[in-house]
Amino acid sequence: MDRILIRGGHRLSGRLPISGAKNAALTLMPCALLTDAPLTLRNLPRLADVDGFGHLLNQLGASTAIEGTSPQDFGRTMTIRAGSLTSTEAPYDIVRKMRASILVLGPVLARAGEARVSLPGGCAIGNRPIDLHLKALEAIGAELEMAAGYVKATAPGGRLSGGRYRFPVVSVGATENVVMAAVLAKGGSVIENAAREPEIVDLCNCLIAMGARIEGVGTDTLEIEGVDALHGATYAVMPDRIEAGSYACAAAITGGSLELVGARAADMQATIDALREAGVTVAETADGLSVEAGAPLAPVTLSTAPYPGFATDMQAQFMAMLCLGSGTSVLTETIFENRYMHVPELARMGADIQVHGRTALVKGVDRLVGAPVMATDLRASMSLILAGLAAEGETAVARVYHLDRGYERLEEKLSAVGADIERASDG
Ligand code: EPZ
Repeated sequence: MDRILIRGGHRLSGRLPISGAKNAALTLMPCALLTDAPLTLRNLPRLADVDGFGHLLNQLGASTAIEGTSPQDFGRTMTIRAGSLTSTEAPYDIVRKMRASILVLGPVLARAGEARVSLPGGCAIGNRPIDLHLKALEAIGAELEMAAGYVKATAPGGRLSGGRYRFPVVSVGATENVVMAAVLAKGGSVIENAAREPEIVDLCNCLIAMGARIEGVGTDTLEIEGVDALHGATYAVMPDRIEAGSYACAAAITGGSLELVGARAADMQATIDALREAGVTVAETADGLSVEAGAPLAPVTLSTAPYPGFATDMQAQFMAMLCLGSGTSVLTETIFENRYMHVPELARMGADIQVHGRTALVKGVDRLVGAPVMATDLRASMSLILAGLAAEGETAVARVYHLDRGYERLEEKLSAVGADIERASDG
């Protein structure tokens, strides 16, 4: 297993390119299943999860061709062709490794009139049910049966009817699944209390480029008029607002300054507001975002929330940064029930964090000390990298496969702006 070794204490400075968004890519790729025409996605990040999703699409009968980008370029262009589906099943051994695989349920059901998808099971940050995905699909005409750890969905008469569904709580993935299913339904659909994340806007814009009829994009009420067929399109994946936020924390925790090239401020206002509350200078530039560490980091009080609130995917990274703040910060995680796995690892580096239920009190300390630490989930791993960048001595982060799921060429990007970081293989 690989480890990442960091020798901390270097101020980061320079221009750092932001890649295409993982959580947009994973909902744009299954859109190709909705048509027999090619869908070309540009700015796809080189990530393990994107590769994994490509294999799943291949399993269903779609081809995925990576078009000529040279290895040193960030991002790739992929053309996906689902001329006809050879399978309507997403098997357990794929779904258990990547729960975003559940996002083929809606498109396969809409295209083929049936789908059989393994229940994803939980993960490190929570049990991650899919009840809302299923209720939303039922509301637009799907018939569901559960057996042997799989859900079998069927569209009576081969086509979904459309309908109305109001989410009791906001769910990003369930909104994505029902939108992808509704665009090919016989009638119209109204989705209320829909997630409003920028990745949902990217999904809707891509579907509209493919001929879908969607009103209310970016709001919590989506009105979708079903069409008989979609055509192909070429669409560029939005920049990754969580990657950009993570590297903004890297600038802040090292007392440095970074130009985040390609970052889109409009997608990450809550993160920018929280950085400013911590005393970090953030400004929009012609090609992205500039982030300049200020005086000692000021304490911050925040709660995670659905967009446009503070992203749960930024909580671990902010916690790492605030470990070196002055005063005590109060972070409350309202989305997932177990998203503090990074706390004991940060504590091993000298952080002073007390967790009480969903709230973590982060008391700023003068210094962190490098140590061997263990990554447990994607964003927790990034918080350990951030701590290592600022810690005295060497930090060795194990189980970096978590990182490779969501951060494209992390060591390369950080080395280029002054970090002393390398990947060591344990054979
Ligand atoms: C997406 O996960 C993201 N993943 C997550 O990013 C992100 O943390 C999350 O949205 C919230 O923003 C992708 O886009 C691939 P949810 P998703 O459905 O869709 C509960 C990362 O680090 N819920 O919005 O699974 C659920 O348990 C990952 O990049 C149900 O109860 O999140 C959670 O408490 C981690 N029933 C809450 O809703 C359901 O059917 C929000 O989950 C679905 C969800």
